[in-house]
Order: sequence, then C-alpha cells, then structure tokens
Amino acid sequence: MINFTRNYLLVSQSKYCESLARFISNYGKNDIQGRMRAWQIHAYGGIDCLSLNDSARVPPIKHPDDVLVEISASSVNPIDVAMMGGYGARLLSVGRRTTLSPDQIEFPLTLGRDFCGEIVEKGHGVTENLKVGDKVWGVLSPFHPGCHAQYAVAPVSNVSLKPSNLTDIEAAAVLYAAVTAWSSLKITGELCLQSANGKRVLVMGGSGGVGSCAIQMLKAWGAQVVATCNTDAVTFVDTLGADCVIDYTDPDAERRIMEEGKYDIILNAAGVSNTLYEETLKSKGCAKYITVTSPLLRNVDRHGLALGMIKNVIDFVSSNLSLRSTPFFLGGPSVRWGYFIPSAKAIEEISELSSSGKLMPSVERTYKFSELQAAYQKVLDGHSRGKTVIDMKSM
Ligand SMILES: NC(=O)c1ccc[n+]([C@@H]2O[C@H](COP(=O)([O-])OP(=O)(O)OC[C@H]3O[C@@H](n4cnc5c(N)ncnc54)[C@H](OP(=O)(O)O)[C@@H]3O)[C@@H](O)[C@H]2O)c1
Repeated sequence: MINFTRNYLLVSQSKYCESLARFISNYGKNDIQGRMRAWQIHAYGGIDCLSLNDSARVPPIKHPDDVLVEISASSVNPIDVAMMGGYGARLLSVGRRTTLSPDQIEFPLTLGRDFCGEIVEKGHGVTENLKVGDKVWGVLSPFHPGCHAQYAVAPVSNVSLKPSNLTDIEAAAVLYAAVTAWSSLKITGELCLQSANGKRVLVMGGSGGVGSCAIQMLKAWGAQVVATCNTDAVTFVDTLGADCVIDYTDPDAERRIMEEGKYDIILNAAGVSNTLYEETLKSKGCAKYITVTSPLLRNVDRHGLALGMIKNVIDFVSSNLSLRSTPFFLGGPSVRWGYFIPSAKAIEEISELSSSGKLMPSVERTYKFSELQAAYQKVLDGHSRGKTVIDMKSM
C-alpha cells in the first residue's frame, strides 16, 4: 500500500512537472492561454461576412486525444466558400451539438479544413509519437471549428508529421482534397478490398484539388487513368501522370470519353452532373460511378432533417434504379456518393505517397493571412488549377 501510494505520488509529481515544463516552455512563445487572430463569420452570406477577429478565443483542448496547433498555412477549399453561404448548416449543427460546447455550435464560425503548423499543446492521451514542437499537417472535419486562424485544435487521428520534402505552404494544400480522393476511391470505390492495378478509371475534373490528387494516387496504385479538364489545363493534368487527357470543351469530347472506356470506376470531381456514366461504365465487375457532389447536405438544408434524409434515400435509390443494366447486387454497376472521411490510415498512406514524391501538391496561388477574403473570392470564381493557400505567417 505504501509502495502504491509512493508510486502514485511520483507519477503525479512527474506529470505535474511535465505540464509545468510545457507551460514554461510555451510561455511568452505564443499566447496560447488567451486570444488569437481568426477569420470568422457571424451570419451566413457572401465574402463580406468574413471578418478578422483580433481577439478570438484560442480553442481549448477538451479531449485527451486532441492537439493544439499553431497554424502556419492553410488552404481554401470549395466547402469553405459553400459553408460561408450556409451550405450544410442544418446537418453540421446536429453534428457539432454532439461533439462541441454550446458556444462553438454555430457562430462565430471559423472556416478552414486543412493545415500545416506546429504542435503547441497536447492532450494527455496523445502518445510520444507526436510531441510539442513537432511540425505537422492535418485536417479538420466540417463539424470542427476551422483553421483559418492562428490556432486550431484537431483530434490526433487527423494529424501526422509533415513530410519533410514539402514546404509548409505545399503541405497545407494537400489533405482535405487528398483525403476526399482517398476515401472516395478506397472506401466508396472499394479499392481497399480489390487491387487498383490495371483498373480503368475516368477522373472528371482532373485540374481541381480532388481530381489532381485522385489522378496521382491512381497512377501510384497502378490504374489506367483517363482525365477530363478545360483546354488551358490539359498540360497541367498531363504532368500529373494521366494516361489520356480529354478537353471537355472539345466538341468531340463525349465520343473520346466513350472510346477510351469502358471504365471500372468513374470519379466525378468536377462539381457538375454527368449523364454519360450509363454508357461508359463497364456493365459487369461491380463498376462504380462515384460523385463527390452528392445532394446529402443540400437536401437537409432545403427540407429539414427528417424529410431531407428521406429525400436522400429516394435520390440515392432512384439514381441506382435508373441504371438499366444488371443490378448491382448481381455484379452490375452502381451509383455511389463519395465523401471526405478523415482517418489515420488515409493520412498515413497520403504521407507515404507524398514523401516518395508520388503525390505532389500543386499550389496555384498563395495569399497573406490579411488577404483571406481575396483567396475566398478566387475559389468562388472557380476554374482552379491546383490549390489556393493562405500563408498565416505573412500578415
Ligand atoms: N463530398 C465531399 O466530402 C467533398 C469533399 C471535397 C470536395 N467536394 C466537392 O468536389 C468538387 C471538387 O472539389 P475540388 O476541391 O477539387 O474543387 P476545385 O479545386 O474547384 O476543382 C474543380 C475542377 O473541375 C473543373 N471542371 C469544371 N467543370 C468541369 C467539367 N465539366 N469537366 C471537367 N472538369 C471540370 C474546374 O475547372 P474549369 O471550371 O476551368 O473546368 C476545376 O479545375 C467540388 O464540387 C467540391 O465541393 C466534395
């Protein structure tokens, strides 16, 4: 009993010393106990709704498996611009209610999904694999307060050491789009169950964030990739390694897409509808048309939670019933909805691909932290050729 008490006191004492040392080493280095600069919205709307708050609260670590990161760079994704306008507000609020405190449920809302930065504090459940001072990259689900701010808290499963061959700006440009491409192909497309080697895949929107990652991943996994993009992006998409690049503005594009098929997987990352998938998917071998722009959140925004979810089921079933070939449960093609599904496994594989140079980010333009509204406007205007990144260290 005496030994137990003594050991307990020693462990408590050493934990106390560790926390004290961490506090002292961080003291003065940054104001992590207090306030930070963050771009926030207080109502849904346009770019004007974004305002720079000089005294936003630094998010506290509330879970043992969380880390607090001082952000050095972050990208702007189409979802940031969409969320600014209220996209997904109903369903995301439900998700936030289950994970966050009441003051974090809706406003002020900080946007921003992927980041590069330095760990400044960590929960007691975070192992020694990640230490205070480590340079990391990470990603935040839309339920979490975002990272267009000086600090953000992330679950440790969404964070890993930054690949050393990438700059902070490059690293910030990867994870949200790459994890979406990975989960759409590996989970929704079931490439985690079967080899991608030799599979024929059409990537629509090869010039965007998700499409450019998907092309590089598929090539690294041994697939044959046909990609579509606008005229001025053909050379860029070609350098990503696609076996065939088709300019969708070419009057001959549809014929060429069909000629290059048929496809085991069509990944639609262009944010537009596609009416060709019926004719271009293989009729057997469980071929899949995966769109990353599903109506899930919009249906709930429009019809409320209960009716919206019913509408989602109807939309999903009817898009599959519209396929006139063999039913999917008999080995025929299916229509699926792909999503950003963060996981430690996805980030680990993406880290390996990036470290070996097989998945490289393409940064189209970098903005200063103070220019964030212009960066949102750039993404809102569309036609991206790679990623738009915010350099948080440059005010
Ligand atoms: N479900 C999810 O969890 C999830 C996650 C991430 C992204 N998304 C969605 O997925 C889509 C792609 O995201 P992203 O980050 O890659 O967006 P992005 O960077 O804006 O890329 C979209 C690309 O598609 C191109 N494009 C537009 N129309 C096209 C067409 N008809 N054929 C081929 N390419 C076309 C655009 O260039 P041009 O206009 O010049 O052709 C642009 O380069 C967005 O709608 C986004 O909201 C969904």
